[in-house]
Amino acid sequence: MHYATAQITSHTHGDGVHIMTLHTPDVAKAAKPGQFVMVYLDKGEHLLPRPISIFDADAAKGDVTLAYVQAGAGTKIMSRWEEGRIIRIIGPLGNGFELEFPQPTDSNLHVVGAGSSRPSQSKEDSSGHTCQLSAPNISSGREDPAPTVCNANPGKLRASVAIIGGGIGTAPLHFLAKELSRQDTPPHIYLGFKHPSPTLTKYFATLTPSLHIATEDKTGYVTDLLPTSPTYTSILTCGPTPMLKAVAAYAQTHNIPCQVSMEARMACGLGACKGCVIKSPPQHDTAYQLCCINGPVFPSQDVNLGFDDLVQGDPKPGGEQK
Ligand SMILES: Cc1cc2nc3c(=O)[nH]c(=O)nc-3n(C[C@H](O)[C@H](O)[C@H](O)COP(=O)(O)OP(=O)(O)OC[C@H]3O[C@@H](n4cnc5c(N)ncnc54)[C@H](O)[C@@H]3O)c2cc1C
Ligand code: FES
Repeated sequence: MHYATAQITSHTHGDGVHIMTLHTPDVAKAAKPGQFVMVYLDKGEHLLPRPISIFDADAAKGDVTLAYVQAGAGTKIMSRWEEGRIIRIIGPLGNGFELEFPQPTDSNLHVVGAGSSRPSQSKEDSSGHTCQLSAPNISSGREDPAPTVCNANPGKLRASVAIIGGGIGTAPLHFLAKELSRQDTPPHIYLGFKHPSPTLTKYFATLTPSLHIATEDKTGYVTDLLPTSPTYTSILTCGPTPMLKAVAAYAQTHNIPCQVSMEARMACGLGACKGCVIKSPPQHDTAYQLCCINGPVFPSQDVNLGFDDLVQGDPKPGGEQK
């Protein structure tokens, strides 16, 4: 964690979303997907910094990119900042997503080396092997996951991860998706927006052969796009609470481990003010957790989303899912 100055090197705006890149090498080097920074505003009445997720980090260039929407006075001030300005941030903060996934089991096998009917492109994986990614396919319909093909280790099993985001909750998921696709685990990505968001969508389109977009004004909720018989070994999600609740219930119904990235109002981001408490479920060993230091990413069974009413079938108690 660094108290850092950062220079704004680019700041663009499109369909209500602001994309701001900061040159801040120490933070860029340390950043992990799912972490956030606290952004200080101008001196004066807005003393408290604002938490914003790390949308992207490039350690080689020393850059961190944030994507945010104008919610109130603080983000309005940020939206007026121009390139070249020096700002203050603290970060990276929070725990980030756990990227060690459970091994596939008989019920969710993804046999690497299986065929794909889609056109494909080559990608060199981290071990130097060439893998085939199906060509990017942006769909707005329900579809069972398509296998990815890897020439390197025919027969090898691979974790199959679904990333599910809603609104500006998609921000931390971009860095996550980029990291997974670099690790040769191209995720299946489902994004939901109120209205089409080309600004955010274009960043995800290059990261996966399986991108599904829902817009409330046309196709409904993002959860309507999820497959009815999923074979995922993990689900990672961020977005509005009703969406998190539906996704966590879906994961529990299908017995898939799920990580949820939570938001709470934060004053310090450092565990000092106790302003960001999140209620734990009854079986948890503490009644409350701090979103800023215990999270913002939690196993879905460790936060009280109140989704029991949505779980289908005969669910296992949350704690048995691991
Ligand atoms: C860990 C974390 C990561 C975040 N990442 C992003 C991000 O990548 N992009 C982005 O646009 N926003 C993000 N947010 C939300 C962002 O911090 C708030 O929108 C921002 O602080 C609002 O400040 P403001 O002064 O503009 O608005 P305020 O005047 O403080 O509030 C305006 C409105 O926003 C709501 N609000 C304020 N803080 C939060 C919050 N923490 N969560 C939800 N609603 C809030 C208020 O209830 C109010 O309705 C994140 C929040 C957290 C906790
Ligand atoms: S924001 Fe201060 S303790 Fe979490």
